[in-house]
Amino acid sequence: MAYDRLQPSQPGGSTQQQNHEEHKARSNKRKIVILSVIAVTMIIVSAVCAGLVIGLRDGGADSIGTQVRRKPTQAISKTCSKTRFPTLCVNSLLEFPGSLTANEQDLVHISFNMTLQHFSKALYTTTSISNVQMDPRVRSAYDDCLELLEDSVDSLSRSLSSVIPSQEGGSTQDVMTWLSAALTYHDTCTEGFEGVSGTVRDQVTDKLKDLSELVSNCLSIFAASGGDDFAGVPIQNRRLLSSDDDLSGESIDEENFPKWLGRKERELLSTPASAIQADVIVSKDGKGTVKTISEAIKKAPEHSNRRFIIYVMAGR
Ligand SMILES: *[C@@H]1O[C@H](CO)[C@@H](O)[C@H](O)[C@H]1NC(C)=O
Repeated sequence: MAYDRLQPSQPGGSTQQQNHEEHKARSNKRKIVILSVIAVTMIIVSAVCAGLVIGLRDGGADSIGTQVRRKPTQAISKTCSKTRFPTLCVNSLLEFPGSLTANEQDLVHISFNMTLQHFSKALYTTTSISNVQMDPRVRSAYDDCLELLEDSVDSLSRSLSSVIPSQEGGSTQDVMTWLSAALTYHDTCTEGFEGVSGTVRDQVTDKLKDLSELVSNCLSIFAASGGDDFAGVPIQNRRLLSSDDDLSGESIDEENFPKWLGRKERELLSTPASAIQADVIVSKDGKGTVKTISEAIKKAPEHSNRRFIIYVMAGR
């Protein structure tokens, strides 16, 4: 039958050849196994070496948020536990001079200073790519970003000088306003690059990495350090858009806005009401979302990082 020939155990010379081939295959297999073992060993050895190099490099430390290298002090742990990004908080504080001997009170201004240094560095490195060729849209987004970073550095410096214990600075409310401004500047910058792609955008957004998280942490640390003063809406030191002393003093700028008012708020206040997308509309006759202002305030989220807009419709 035809399939007899397919039987492998045909007597004769072919068996010997088969044995030989089997032997060859086995020794090949063994070679492959040995080679694989060597390869794996080398991979492990080089991984360990790379680990050592990275470990050594990290001794010099300039990146944040990677890993905890030193043990945080009790004050640092306690301070950072109040933040939304505790790991970033611990890591960034640990590598900042003076943090290991600081008490909780000192950590407030140390956090501000550390955040300011990160912003300054981002501003510096962002400025360094200004000679790169950019098309007009990217250039405009880039220029905006640079300007906003400068404003943030300014806001943070003011906040820092207000929280240094020995100095008489602005009010608590000022610090919150400045910090919030730094947070919105950052958002505005990232938004400017929306819809554009390319290396400039990637480079800029990379430099902005962690910045808004650091500001958010400052806000939490500062709020926690103020204790009960922060429960509820702050009333003292509240600034009105056009109180008498503002009008007489220098605090009004060319655009007739108080100087402390941020860029986004200026844009918002210059926009006609019909063009504003409000979060809540107050209208006594029930045409809005709610009927009273206090209901609207209750609807505003507690720790929002964007402006919550309440539109109060005209009425009696
Ligand atoms: C902020 O940190 C820098 C660098 O560590 C230090 O030289 C400077 O004195 C600090 N400034 C304040 C106000 O603490």
